[in-house]
Amino acid sequence: MVDVDWDDLRARAVEAARSAYSPYSGLQVGSAAVCDDGRVVLGCNVENASYGVGMCAECTMAGQLRLTGGGRFVAVACRSGAGELLMPCGRCRQVLYELGGPDCLVDTPAGVLPMTRVLPDAFGPEDLP
Ligand code: THU
Repeated sequence: MVDVDWDDLRARAVEAARSAYSPYSGLQVGSAAVCDDGRVVLGCNVENASYGVGMCAECTMAGQLRLTGGGRFVAVACRSGAGELLMPCGRCRQVLYELGGPDCLVDTPAGVLPMTRVLPDAFGPEDLP
């Protein structure tokens, strides 16, 4: 069982947001996750002049998970550079589900909730033949 310091995780997400490259939307997004081995990985959004090619913070964080040893997300917080709580977009919920599964915890406006509440009836690896 991994201990989650939510205040620390939220602060790390805000710090990660400050590395965002978001000249088009102006919104800095940061994400931070505790992994099943206890380490913390971070992500920030990286936009592109070809708008649709931009990457969300959770997606770059998925890359960090893989690049720093793999494993699973256990707890995730997303914040703006100004410290506001942001919910992962629909696509990012799917990305988090893939690498964190149904029990992964997410910081939401309604409190800390499992992915089963954040992405109900999710399609996942278990649905593939
Ligand atoms: N964004 C994220 O980084 N994560 C989300 O879950 C929602 C949206 C980014 C994408 C874009 O760079 C900016 O927020 C505005 O949509």
